[in-house]
Amino acid sequence: MNAAQQNRVAFASDVLERHGRLRTARMTLPLRSDEDVVALRRHVRERAVAIALSLVEQTKLVTAASELARNTIKYGGGGEAHLDALADSLRQGVCLVFVDDGPGIADIDQALRDGFTTGGGLGLGLGGAKRLVDEFDIESRTGEGTAVSIVKWKR
Ligand SMILES: Nc1ncnc2c1ncn2[C@@H]1O[C@H](COP(=O)(O)OP(=O)(O)OP(=O)(O)O)[C@@H](O)[C@H]1O
Ligand SMILES: [Mg+2]
Repeated sequence: MNAAQQNRVAFASDVLERHGRLRTARMTLPLRSDEDVVALRRHVRERAVAIALSLVEQTKLVTAASELARNTIKYGGGGEAHLDALADSLRQGVCLVFVDDGPGIADIDQALRDGFTTGGGLGLGLGGAKRLVDEFDIESRTGEGTAVSIVKWKR
């Protein structure tokens, strides 16, 4: 990871830690190829099973992770996924942060709008991912890169 990427991951970590949560079982996976997406999906599924998410909730999290991973590869030029187990005093969760050092997203509201795409896609990935998880944050700087973090809690 270069310094800019480290800054973005540090930012995402700060956001989560400010809320007094404990993050454990950290794992970093590369995102360059379709095989990397397959591996990510498997690890995310394992984490979801570990906190006893229902099959439906597991699938929502895996689907959101897939969409964000594909964006990291397609638009970010590749990057990394950071997986963390989360716990506060009441519940357990899974946190994922997708980081790239690509062109960034100039207008995040526009990118989130259903149907907006710059790559000939359906433009449903970001908005869809947001609806499938409990927490969703995008930090992006034009010309520097993007970090998208998601959290799913066990209810
Ligand atoms: N990591 C990223 N870096 C730069 N731009 C991004 C990134 N992720 C998303 N975007 C921008 O946001 C737009 C919307 O993303 P979204 O995933 O919703 O749609 P899509 O990838 O174009 O199509 P779909 O995911 O439905 O196949 C993208 O077209 C791209 O312009
Ligand atoms: Mg997409």
